[in-house]
Amino acid sequence: MSNNKIGVFDSGVGGLTVLYQLLKYLPNEEYIYFGDTARVPYGTKSRETIMNFSRQNINFLLSKGVKTIVVACNSASSNGIETIKKEYDIPIFDVIGPTVKNLSRKISNIGIIGTYATIESKSYDNKIKKKFNNKLKIFHKACPLLVPLAEEGLNNTSISKITIEHYLKEFRTKDLDSLIMGCTHYPLFKKEIRDFFEGKVKLINPGKMVAKEVTLFLKEKEMLGDKKSGWVEFYLSDIPRNFQKIVRRFLGKKVENFKRIDIERYK
Ligand code: DGL
Repeated sequence: MSNNKIGVFDSGVGGLTVLYQLLKYLPNEEYIYFGDTARVPYGTKSRETIMNFSRQNINFLLSKGVKTIVVACNSASSNGIETIKKEYDIPIFDVIGPTVKNLSRKISNIGIIGTYATIESKSYDNKIKKKFNNKLKIFHKACPLLVPLAEEGLNNTSISKITIEHYLKEFRTKDLDSLIMGCTHYPLFKKEIRDFFEGKVKLINPGKMVAKEVTLFLKEKEMLGDKKSGWVEFYLSDIPRNFQKIVRRFLGKKVENFKRIDIERYK
């Protein structure tokens, strides 16, 4: 058993959808969430910059004595995280590996949506191709506008429906059986995406997949906590003006205990 905390980081508030899943699967753990709100978005940044940010975020979480780290951000998970993992002794989970691991062998046409940094990295594609020996068709699309729409609370509106239609229309003729919602913000558009595909496509939430994987790992290593609290300490590199509103949308509750830190110090 270990009652050390689980560290989670994201480029900003989107990772709260991943934290939501972790709290669901592992309610007896305590968490430290770091949102890099001063440097968000990661989805338009270069691989080198994202890797630099990821290292600082990990260094900060390590300074808090966490027992494991979850990279909630798809953009960070897609850009050099395998290299970074080798630099640290602590188990680090990204969202890509667990998502691909959990894909059904029956899939034949899969779609992936995410930020530019995720889609251009081909992180999901490469892992999927390896698992399925190139035997399935992969289609992808960067959907950058969905991030600000989610943060503005414009999910489930006519604007989000039009935006989903705009981005996904090219998938209509592809006969997809599954779609990876490869960005922390996209689970907020589950309803519109499901409606777009008339319920015929299985939607995959990487946050859920990583939460399952961390649960298995902690059980196997006998590292589960028994705090019965689901307590979360929040750290941010900037306090956005509409922070509380966004938190409520992404996590479903208000957060009182958040602190601002200077992330650049954790080089
Ligand atoms: N958290 C990012 C992701 O999952 C979305 C926001 C950003 O671009 O930083 O890719």
